[in-house]
Amino acid sequence: MIRGVGMLTLAIETSCDETSCAVIKDGRQVLSNIISSQIDIHKRFGGVVPEIASRKHIESINNILQEALDTAEVGFKDIDLIAVTRGPGLIGALLVGLSTAKALAYGLNIPIVGVNHIEGHVCANFIDHKDLEPPFTCLIVSGGHTYLVQANGYTDYELIGRTRDDAAGEAFDKVARSIGLPYPGGPHIDRLAKIGNMESVAFPRVIIDEHTYDFSFSGLKTAVLNHLNQMKQKNEEIIVEDIAASFQAAVLDVLVDKSFRLAKERKSDKLVVAGGVAANEGLRTMMMERGKKEGIKVYYPSKILCTDNAAMIGAAGYFNYINGNVSDLGMKVMPNLDIK
Ligand code: KG4
Ligand code: ZN
Repeated sequence: MIRGVGMLTLAIETSCDETSCAVIKDGRQVLSNIISSQIDIHKRFGGVVPEIASRKHIESINNILQEALDTAEVGFKDIDLIAVTRGPGLIGALLVGLSTAKALAYGLNIPIVGVNHIEGHVCANFIDHKDLEPPFTCLIVSGGHTYLVQANGYTDYELIGRTRDDAAGEAFDKVARSIGLPYPGGPHIDRLAKIGNMESVAFPRVIIDEHTYDFSFSGLKTAVLNHLNQMKQKNEEIIVEDIAASFQAAVLDVLVDKSFRLAKERKSDKLVVAGGVAANEGLRTMMMERGKKEGIKVYYPSKILCTDNAAMIGAAGYFNYINGNVSDLGMKVMPNLDIK
């Protein structure tokens, strides 16, 4: 086989509460992408319980692995490369995926690539948009991270801005909880925002005017909590749809504005959105509309590839491999790994 052509990557993702395995051909074609979500288990605790997450990954990983191979109609002998999330994420959860991946790479005697989960989110776009190539400006918005980066190559990310406190998804989840919505709250806020009045409460657009590409969402979260308390004290009715719509509008204004500001500064004609919050319909619409106005092409993944999945890890692993980044079996998990 010529290196990188017709290459099958078996990918494993266990960084948080999804156990996922995928088989990817040449970095962009998904042969299988099996995702087993633990959301129903963690829901009753209002968030992910790390110890439970690790145990559930151990219980399901072998079955998910087999299902990924069966769906792709391949066997272990057909696999050329193992890709696995090594961080960031929950240490115990990451260890399950990494140990499984190492055992496979060792047993099959094939190379292994440790993947940065955040880069994985970006690479989900290479699967859905076959024509997409770097350079581009990228907004990464997930439950744990919020970054503005300039992708100068497939594995070359220049970090420009980041959240100074809560991640965008985290803000969605905390605000959702405060208005009685279940975990994870992002999709519920998204749904309610469509029917609510986004002008009902003027929540702050934090550091939108400052000349920085950093974000901050904890002040907004506090503003929502204060507003709810005031309403309760005055015995006034809280219309959750309006809170959802007003909160979402405040988040999206900042995300969209800064992303386009950076794209224009860098003269990018492509703006890529990635991570769980990229599934937000309000964000997708606003990005597209602004893109049309500014003459910048906007990309985001299909919804299933926005949230955690192994297919995106396979894509990132493949691009790392063909760019010469191979890991060794001694690699360790990196729970606090940053984007480069
Ligand atoms: O990327 P992801 O699956 O996990 C991390 O790597 O963190 O992101 C999960 C986050 C959660 O905070 C969830 O509420 C948010 O993505 N999310 C959404 C939507 N779907 C998922 N936030 C807003 N609108 C959505 N439709
Ligand atoms: Zn993620």
